[in-house]
Amino acid sequence: MSKQLKLGINIDHVATVRQARRGNTPDPAYAAALCELAGCDSIVCHLREDRRHIQDRDVYLLKQVVKTYLNLEMALSDEIVKIALDVKPYQVTLVPEKREELTTEGGLDVIKNFEKIRDNVKKFTKKGIRVSLFIEPDRRQIEAGKKTGAGFIEIHTGRYADAKTEQEIKRELEKISDAANYALSINLRVNAGHGLDYKNTPAICRIKGIEELNIGYSIIGRAVFTGLESAVREMRDVMKESV
Ligand code: PXP
Repeated sequence: MSKQLKLGINIDHVATVRQARRGNTPDPAYAAALCELAGCDSIVCHLREDRRHIQDRDVYLLKQVVKTYLNLEMALSDEIVKIALDVKPYQVTLVPEKREELTTEGGLDVIKNFEKIRDNVKKFTKKGIRVSLFIEPDRRQIEAGKKTGAGFIEIHTGRYADAKTEQEIKRELEKISDAANYALSINLRVNAGHGLDYKNTPAICRIKGIEELNIGYSIIGRAVFTGLESAVREMRDVMKESV
């Protein structure tokens, strides 16, 4: 029997609302607790260099209160690496980061930054922190990812989410499916995420071998109207009905 697809919830945008007034509410730690009560499998947050949403305090607090597991998204800047090694989340997901972007725009270029990524994977692994690499559905990048020593990849689903025509959508889904198969064939474990919502998630759920989906924006956006627990449960239902 195949294992149930897991749901990791990215709570960055709870912090985005708080930071709009530099206040102390809504608190991502409360959000994490509600997401867990509603049945999510992990909590994801991204400590960006510009601290536009999640703050250092949030990461330390989440490490203490999260009962499922904490997946910290981060770029390989010295400052953030130092914090991550101090916090020791269950997992780090390495992402590229540009200050001017609205959200993470592309996957890591593992080929170009191979040595830096490999050296940091070693540092995290030595501390007992699991490492995942956020990469495009591209065999060459995945192959390089394997060579860094990381155990997981997260396939970037953003291009699929942005695809407009049926043909484009089909092509992007094929790329993701091929990438997942290839990664599994070289013993990498596979997650996926970015831009997934209540409509485009089912097709991703039908791709065999993906373990976990990381979803943020669509769930937090829906929560404004329905409440967080209901928004999480609805996504869980969408995922259950899709496989
Ligand atoms: N996975 C990664 C690596 C991301 O950077 C993000 C966005 O922070 C997500 C998943 C979630 O994307 P979205 O907020 O579009 O659901």
